[in-house]
Amino acid sequence: MAQLTVPFFRPSFDEEEKRAVCDVIDSGWLTTGKVTHDFEREFASFTGARHALAVNSNTSGMILAMEACGVKPGKAVITTPYTFVSTAASALHLGGDVFFADIEKNSYSIDPDSIEKILKEDKEDNNHKICAIVPVHIAGNLCNMEAITKLAEKYSTPDNKIYVIEDCAHSFPSRTKNGMAGTLGDVGVFSFYATKTITTGEGGMITTKDDALADRMTKMRLHGMNRDAWDRYTSDKASWQYDIIAPGFKSNLPDVLSAIGRVQLKKADLFYQKRLKTVEFYNKSFKNEDYLTLPPDGEGNAWHLYLIQINPDKLNCTRDQFAKALQDEGIGISMHFITIYNFSYWAKRYPQYNAKTLPNAESHYQNTITLPLWPDMSPEMAQKVVDTVKKIGHNQHVR
Ligand SMILES: Cc1ncc(COP(=O)(O)O)c(C=O)c1O
Repeated sequence: MAQLTVPFFRPSFDEEEKRAVCDVIDSGWLTTGKVTHDFEREFASFTGARHALAVNSNTSGMILAMEACGVKPGKAVITTPYTFVSTAASALHLGGDVFFADIEKNSYSIDPDSIEKILKEDKEDNNHKICAIVPVHIAGNLCNMEAITKLAEKYSTPDNKIYVIEDCAHSFPSRTKNGMAGTLGDVGVFSFYATKTITTGEGGMITTKDDALADRMTKMRLHGMNRDAWDRYTSDKASWQYDIIAPGFKSNLPDVLSAIGRVQLKKADLFYQKRLKTVEFYNKSFKNEDYLTLPPDGEGNAWHLYLIQINPDKLNCTRDQFAKALQDEGIGISMHFITIYNFSYWAKRYPQYNAKTLPNAESHYQNTITLPLWPDMSPEMAQKVVDTVKKIGHNQHVR
């Protein structure tokens, strides 16, 4: 019998997504129009956000959010090295600078104490360089948003507001007593990349309650234009007239992708419930394995990814050898994340950030493996993942 293999991820689509795409094609309007505006309204209503702006990726959304919050030459953001590189690179695209705070000892979340150290120095040196803090809700587990928003308030001055921009690439849907992820800071930026909890292949959404930020991001999303193509097509005013208020970007999400997003959005809670079943099975199966540390799980965890850490003191193999053994047995794995200071460009540009200065990020990076987790994973596949992890763990256990 052929060996059962378990893909790292597979999106959950059915006839409804296909029909929605065909309807857009048949309509003759492929770019941003009514379907995208409907998607934005539905996303805003789902998350409780005042504004939702569809964009063609989280990366585009992050650049727009940082631009609106004042990132430019002479200004900087605080974020974590434990993220996908685009979170930090967005500041560099705008000519801004990046400060890295360490993550917490027992989670992948940015550490408020480490953030405060950077804010304090910025204040004492009278630099006021920092204009945004960018927490990243790794794997769907939320950062300490109450502490982070308090710090932003504490260190803001009348001339230099410090904004909080949530990187929500992993945290949809994520409910807390204070609201959903993406509404807990000033701006939230979501991703609909191919492996995310809902997907349009490529895509993203920005949420905010701030009218001025929403206005700026709406215009900068489309060349700095004061009217989009749908408005020019449907309004009474002359279709060819528009103004350009700044050199903007081209970051809009087309209707053909928003159509997929609208269908996926309706299924977001169902997908979450299905992932949760696998998570509960993993947690129960691994809880007594002393060579593993299970993922952190706080309020509102969206469970986008299941990250395990191996305990090197209990095993005769490295994380890389453990990961390779899983792959050899047909288990699709990934690694979230290679810490940013380990990349050659970043090491050269910011030599002050490294394994010694960011010890928690480094130890998490050294020991983490991401296991398969997706809505339509069968119980047999989840069982195979558990059996294989345990087989390798027991074979490699120190005696
Ligand atoms: C934490 C995090 N931030 C940002 C991004 C960038 O998302 P996108 O591919 O939609 O630009 C990703 C994507 O993998 C991510 O995991």
